[in-house]
Amino acid sequence: MMRSPKVRTAILISGRGSNMVAIAQAAQATDYPAEIVGVISNRPDAKGLERAKALGLNTDIVDHKLYDNRKAFEQALHAQLLALDPEIICCAGFMRILTPWFVSQWHGRLINIHPSLLPKYKGLNTHQRAIEAGDTHAGVSVHWVTAELDGGEVIDQRSIEILPHDTADTLAERLLPVELALYPDALEAVALQFQKQPRQ
Ligand code: GAR
Repeated sequence: MMRSPKVRTAILISGRGSNMVAIAQAAQATDYPAEIVGVISNRPDAKGLERAKALGLNTDIVDHKLYDNRKAFEQALHAQLLALDPEIICCAGFMRILTPWFVSQWHGRLINIHPSLLPKYKGLNTHQRAIEAGDTHAGVSVHWVTAELDGGEVIDQRSIEILPHDTADTLAERLLPVELALYPDALEAVALQFQKQPRQ
């Protein structure tokens, strides 16, 4: 049987890019349903850019500091994305809040990984907030991006137990391998859905 074409996927990063690497490595498998068409960072010094280049990926920088306002930055980011022609965009440690305008341009195509068991702890300092609340578990979620920050429907999430001496840093460290397994799996599930839909 003929395999469906791989779903064109762009990745947005701001930092070290470990989720991006995990996705890109998964995508190297012939039977993985998504291919990475480009990695864009809003920070020129993001470590992930070197890691993406080392994997042979196409990289771009859209430096938010070079734009007068969020709208101008997002228009530039949008133009770069249009050039890549992605069907899915993965935010992977992309630390810019996206406006309703940008989200509407990519409605149903934009996903994000967030380090909490959504709907708990939208925003920042998620692990610290889970510890302070006395939660028994912390986790990570991949979700659809909507105009509400970290508010879109959850695609998949995984959790680990919070141990008595955990700090935000130890929790983040123990959660990282869980994240790196979750994101490629969640993207695979989304890309398989895209493959079933007629292409535009
Ligand atoms: C990850 O832990 C991700 O869950 C988090 O940033 C880190 C990026 O690491 N994302 C957010 O906090 C989004 N609000 P990475 O650059 O090594 O993938």
